Amino acid sequence: MAKYTIGWMPGDGVGNEVMAATRTVLDAVGFDAEYVNLDIGWDFWCQEGDALPARTVEGLKACDASLFGAITSKPKAEAEAELAPALQGTGLVYRSPIVRMRQVFDLYTNCRPCRAFPGNKLNFEDGIDLVVFRENTEGMYTGIEWSPVDGEIRKALESHPNFERFKSVPAEKMSFSSRIITWDGASRIVRAAFEYAKEHGYPTVTVVEKPNVLRETSGMFIDAAKEVAKDFPGIELWETNIDAMVMWLVKNPQNYGVIATSNLFGDVISDLCAQLVGGLGFAAAGNVGQDVAVFEPTHGSAPKYYGLDKVNPIACVLAAKMMLDYLGEPEMATKVLDAVAQVISDGEVCTYDMGGDTKCSEMGQAIADTIG
Ligand SMILES: NC(=O)c1ccc[n+]([C@@H]2O[C@H](COP(=O)([O-])OP(=O)(O)OC[C@H]3O[C@@H](n4cnc5c(N)ncnc54)[C@H](O)[C@@H]3O)[C@@H](O)[C@H]2O)c1
Repeated sequence: MAKYTIGWMPGDGVGNEVMAATRTVLDAVGFDAEYVNLDIGWDFWCQEGDALPARTVEGLKACDASLFGAITSKPKAEAEAELAPALQGTGLVYRSPIVRMRQVFDLYTNCRPCRAFPGNKLNFEDGIDLVVFRENTEGMYTGIEWSPVDGEIRKALESHPNFERFKSVPAEKMSFSSRIITWDGASRIVRAAFEYAKEHGYPTVTVVEKPNVLRETSGMFIDAAKEVAKDFPGIELWETNIDAMVMWLVKNPQNYGVIATSNLFGDVISDLCAQLVGGLGFAAAGNVGQDVAVFEPTHGSAPKYYGLDKVNPIACVLAAKMMLDYLGEPEMATKVLDAVAQVISDGEVCTYDMGGDTKCSEMGQAIADTIG
């Protein structure tokens, strides 16, 4: 029997290609796993009306950890139009399966390390080492939205003094998304960030919010962060507004290390951080909860490249490296990281985004060969 059971979710488009390349690397490092294929993505939405079928939710519970490639998501009307005819008009609403997975399993930590590998010509600057802790289950991405805005929701909004200027807007001409921050939700993501900073020797944790405008939600996030920081006397808590932070990250990225923030801000800021160290081909994430953990490259299904064996699998390989760390296999994780670093610094094997013509599968093989 294999040592680990790993949920295997290639999903859509190039998710399949980067996952195949990553499997070559996991095999080369001697990872002893049984891989369980789990259905996720656009085809399952179209055929069954569910991009995250119940059998996948059950399957994930039985795995020690899971690796996920990418999915395709489309806006409401397009999603409805692509449903199997028998399912159309039945009230099914498409929701991103990765967002749902994070909520169903309370995968509250989204950890996104963005490290400038020496010799990567795509680095914005050498020496960048940023780790974004994005809250994964609350904020703007709860999916609690209304359109039209009528009934009890409308009544509740009308009771707020700032709603006055919207009073004349008809219900069907208005949409409403909610931003929910809880004290516990904010505390646990900030705590995860501080614990990471402590374990890896970062002197600061920067909390990124907008409390001067989002007084209640960002205000609570910051207050919770201050409480958590008291438990980590050796690490400084820095507070920065989201708008200023994107500027500072471009101006002085080397000043920052661990960053903690809410869902939407974390989504935006982690793509910026990814671009500072080479782009989506290098950006991996771990979605970690109490019992379930799902690791992924942060890019999407990149439909224009699907079938060309062209995109960079390094992001997915780094996601697998994070998974090995999570499983308590630091030696294997280090071997994978060192092999990626070696291939990048050698500069001979480069996918299209790195200025070369190495295929996705060849990059996976080159990393595997470097492991030996
Ligand atoms: N986590 C996810 O699965 C996820 C994330 C983002 C977007 N999406 C979905 O993916 C689909 C396509 O979205 P998109 O085109 O905006 O984003 P995308 O991340 O799929 O691709 C955007 C661009 O980034 C580059 N890119 C992406 N992955 C790369 C890689 N591994 N190597 C090199 N370059 C890479 C390519 O130039 C690509 O055209 C949409 O349906 C979107 O909803 C899914």
